[in-house]
Amino acid sequence: MADSESDFQTVRLFNYKGCKMSGIHTIERLDQMENYEVRDSDVFVVTYPKSGTIWMQTILMYIFMDDDLQTGETKASFFKAPWLELSIKEINTDDRPPPRLFVTHLPYQLIPKALKNKKAKVIYVYRNPKDVAVSYYHFHKFANYLETPENFGAFLQAFLEGQVDYDSWFDHVKNWYNHREEFNIIFQSYEEMIKDLKMAVLKFCKFLGKPMDDKSVDAIVEHSTFKNMKLNPKTNYETAGFPLFNSSLPGFMRRGIIGDWKNNFTVAQNDMFNNIFQEKMNAIPLKFIWENVA
Ligand code: A3P
Repeated sequence: MADSESDFQTVRLFNYKGCKMSGIHTIERLDQMENYEVRDSDVFVVTYPKSGTIWMQTILMYIFMDDDLQTGETKASFFKAPWLELSIKEINTDDRPPPRLFVTHLPYQLIPKALKNKKAKVIYVYRNPKDVAVSYYHFHKFANYLETPENFGAFLQAFLEGQVDYDSWFDHVKNWYNHREEFNIIFQSYEEMIKDLKMAVLKFCKFLGKPMDDKSVDAIVEHSTFKNMKLNPKTNYETAGFPLFNSSLPGFMRRGIIGDWKNNFTVAQNDMFNNIFQEKMNAIPLKFIWENVA
């Protein structure tokens, strides 16, 4: 695995305290997570990969950007709300004024213990797992630190078995949901953000204690649309580039729609997925949206 962010290797997944991890991680950083110092004013976005993380990261950046949205910010979203579990030399969060913003894919069992004091805020974004699987499949071709799958069928099998970076989607969502009482947390579905982004932004502002006038909310919504995020180098991750990613392929901002799984799943794969989903998720009352019907 990696000694530093620029030094990763495409290695087979390794097991870190029961969670499959890829070569982008360092044991040293992961070891720091359990006792990581959490401040009451901190805000964390938690997601399983490909569930809308960088979208939420961008919205969070804009909510806490007090200057004009067009001119006020010179840094990329991943600098403003950095990845908790990745140690990136240029990013030091220790001296930042409150609120410090973070994004993380860490599963419940690896999250800093201090987050359970219930003061720091957590926004957990989840997405229907068929679209997560498709998005993750394409991401494996784009990310140089992940092994390129043979085909979608092979990847889907690995996804269902949790043989991917950050392990099982099912465990991630279930564990965070089942332990929700331990945190100051709200749950947000990716699809509801697509359907009504303004409502979602208003919900975030309320939870974060950051009241905003209508004009500012509208500006955040406008800057956070798929089209505008894809064009903006501060939000589209193009500056993260090589060597982590293969810049010639569609990257983080790929399609941004509900129901792309229909273009990828065979009928048999869909039946299998439905059975597994039903068995594993039937006790979880989160609402999943599988297609974009009016
Ligand atoms: P697709 O690959 O299906 O297009 P993450 O940030 O967790 O890696 O998730 C990436 C997914 O979120 C990608 O899905 C990406 O297109 C989608 N996404 C990012 N920004 C978005 C936006 N503003 N609107 C809708 N989807 C967005």
